[in-house]
Amino acid sequence: MQKIVVNGGAPLEGEVAISGAKNAVLPILCGALLADGPVEIANVPDLDDVSTTARLLRELGARIEHDAEASRFLIDAREARGHVAPYDLVRTMRASVLVLGPLLARHGAAEVSLPGGCAIGSRPVDLHIHAMQALGAEVEVEHGYIKARGRLRGGRIEFPAVSVGATENALMAATLAAGTTVIDNAAREPEIVDLAECLVALGADIEGAGESRIVVRGVERLQGGRHSVLPDRIETGTFLVAAAMTGGRVVATRARAGTQQAVLDKLAEAGADVAVEGDAIVVDMRGRRPRAVDIVTEPYPGFPTDMQAQFMALNCIAEGTGTIDERIFENRFMHVNELLRLGADIQIEGHRATVSGVERLSGAPVMATDLRASASLILAGLVAEGETVIDRIYHLDRGYERIERKLSGLGARIQRID
Ligand code: EPZ
Repeated sequence: MQKIVVNGGAPLEGEVAISGAKNAVLPILCGALLADGPVEIANVPDLDDVSTTARLLRELGARIEHDAEASRFLIDAREARGHVAPYDLVRTMRASVLVLGPLLARHGAAEVSLPGGCAIGSRPVDLHIHAMQALGAEVEVEHGYIKARGRLRGGRIEFPAVSVGATENALMAATLAAGTTVIDNAAREPEIVDLAECLVALGADIEGAGESRIVVRGVERLQGGRHSVLPDRIETGTFLVAAAMTGGRVVATRARAGTQQAVLDKLAEAGADVAVEGDAIVVDMRGRRPRAVDIVTEPYPGFPTDMQAQFMALNCIAEGTGTIDERIFENRFMHVNELLRLGADIQIEGHRATVSGVERLSGAPVMATDLRASASLILAGLVAEGETVIDRIYHLDRGYERIERKLSGLGARIQRID
């Protein structure tokens, strides 16, 4: 099993190009199932989760051409007749549940394995099912599968709680439902806006994506088209936190500052000089030690839960004490035990972590437990004294494109070993 070895102490300096957003490209690939023509998707990141999604779409009968060099996918789902997303695929990537809405809308039937939980929580899908039923589908859950059928018609979907994935499934299903659909308490993440822009490019009629109320007027069919995926705001934030932790200066290019204001505000609060120059974001720490910050994770535009672990790593070596309230997932502190092994001072009480900054972390062997936890361990390794070896880095490859190469390019002493 591959590992990543980091030797701490080097301030990061230089430019890093941001890849397309994982959490936009996954629903967009699933949305291509709706189209009655070829869909070209540009700026696709080279991630394991993208490969898994491509495998699922092929199993459903879609024809896919992947030009990895050009980060481009061409998907033709015209002949795709499959409507079953099997357990062996869904359990490796719970975002596979995002084929539910497209399959139901296109074929009037869908059988999608329940995704099951993961390290950060039980990850229920009740809100996804609620949305499909509101559009007129009959839905049963049996033998570990969501079984949905019926001709979808426009309706009113009122989400009792905000869910990114359920909003995406509802949005995709509604594009072909007969009549008008109103989605209330919709998630407002930039990835939902990007998905909507892609669907509109294919002929969908959508208003209000990015707001709490989205209105979709169903159309007969979606044709082919093209879309370029927006930059990954979490990858961007991860590299910018690395700059703040190591006292360096990093320029994230091909980025989109407008999708991550809460993160940029927290970096400034931690003492970084933050500047935006077009599609570049500059974080300059000028050799200073960061100040501890308090974090509360919320749905967008609040502080993103996917940046919680990274800021916990920053607080571990910051001046002062910072609290971290994780309000989105029930178990997203798996990185704490590993950070403690590196010498961090963290107290957990329910959903709140209190982190007292220490002068120095010391390198040690640690284990990744989930995608963003892996990133926080790498960040901690960048500042820890000596060598940190991170095991189970397959978690990392799901959501970061060649992270060790990008960090090496910024001067980090990091390598992947077999
Ligand atoms: C998306 O997951 C992202 N994944 C997650 O990123 C991200 O952390 C999350 O949104 C929140 O921003 C993708 O986009 C592929 P939710 P999703 O539905 O859609 C509960 C990463 O690291 N809930 O907004 O699964 C759920 O348990 C990943 O890139 C229900 O109760 O998140 C959670 O507590 C991790 N019932 C909360 O809502 C449901 O039917 C928010 O989940 C669905 C969700």
